[in-house]
Amino acid sequence: MSQSAQHAPAGGGLQKILETNSILLIVGILLLVSVGGIVEIVPLFYLKNTIEQVEGVRPYSPLELAGYNIYIREGCYTCHSQMIRPLRDEVERYGHYSLAAESMYDHPFQWGSKRTGPDLARVGGKYSNDWHRDHLRNPRSVVPSSIMPGYAFLSQTPLDGEHLAEQMRTLRVVGVPYTDEQIDNAPGDLAAQLSADAQGASEMQKRYPNAAFTDSPSKSGVTEEDALVAYLQHLGVSVDFKIYDDKANVR
Ligand code: HEC
Repeated sequence: MSQSAQHAPAGGGLQKILETNSILLIVGILLLVSVGGIVEIVPLFYLKNTIEQVEGVRPYSPLELAGYNIYIREGCYTCHSQMIRPLRDEVERYGHYSLAAESMYDHPFQWGSKRTGPDLARVGGKYSNDWHRDHLRNPRSVVPSSIMPGYAFLSQTPLDGEHLAEQMRTLRVVGVPYTDEQIDNAPGDLAAQLSADAQGASEMQKRYPNAAFTDSPSKSGVTEEDALVAYLQHLGVSVDFKIYDDKANVR
């Protein structure tokens, strides 16, 4: 301390006082950090939305939402991320980098930080429903060197969709724009996504554009596997990047 006083530059009276008095220095630092923090953080509370809206992004259909729940329950996120970073190697491997809007209706989001398996942010439409079913039941049947565990029991487990409408209502509280119509029709829409010939299939697709039918092989109602396949087939397919890339002249 006494050393710094000796070598303090001439002039700066205030600087000299602050640098030779540790209490004053701490108070000064706290003041500076608080003002900086307030300037950065407070405006966020007044913004309606920090995420840019992107055309095509919609809330999950009831079957996809059920699949999302199973994805979390089974801990798929411990091996798979859902966030393609804007780096060349990632974009070349997985497709267009992820946009914030693409996960804006996920509560909680599934970005993840561990990639034992590949990123799944754009896995939708990459494989057939049958491939996913085979892969989930026994990954080695389609990828011989796979170390992913099998989830065969999902195809034997009837889906418990009882609380989906309540979950949709709850998600609405945190900003997911489910309509009354969507919530009222949740049980019907759930079954309607099992096949393109199902009753109410076209109404379901009007409420959830782009929803993929899962060609369920189950004879006894909806299974957990159906839900997970519907969810996986919807990952990353909401936004038509051709429109954006042409506009921005990217790639
Ligand atoms: C122990 C880590 C691990 C867990 C847990 C895990 N996976 Fe995987 N997953 C992998 C690995 C490794 C691969 C790459 C080999 C393969 O395709 O099987 C993979 C591949 C995949 C693929 C193919 C991706 C592609 O682009 O080829 C999908 C889809 C997938 N997993 C879904 C899931 C789902 C859904 C769950 C949860 C039910 C899950 N995984 C749980 C490790 C895991």
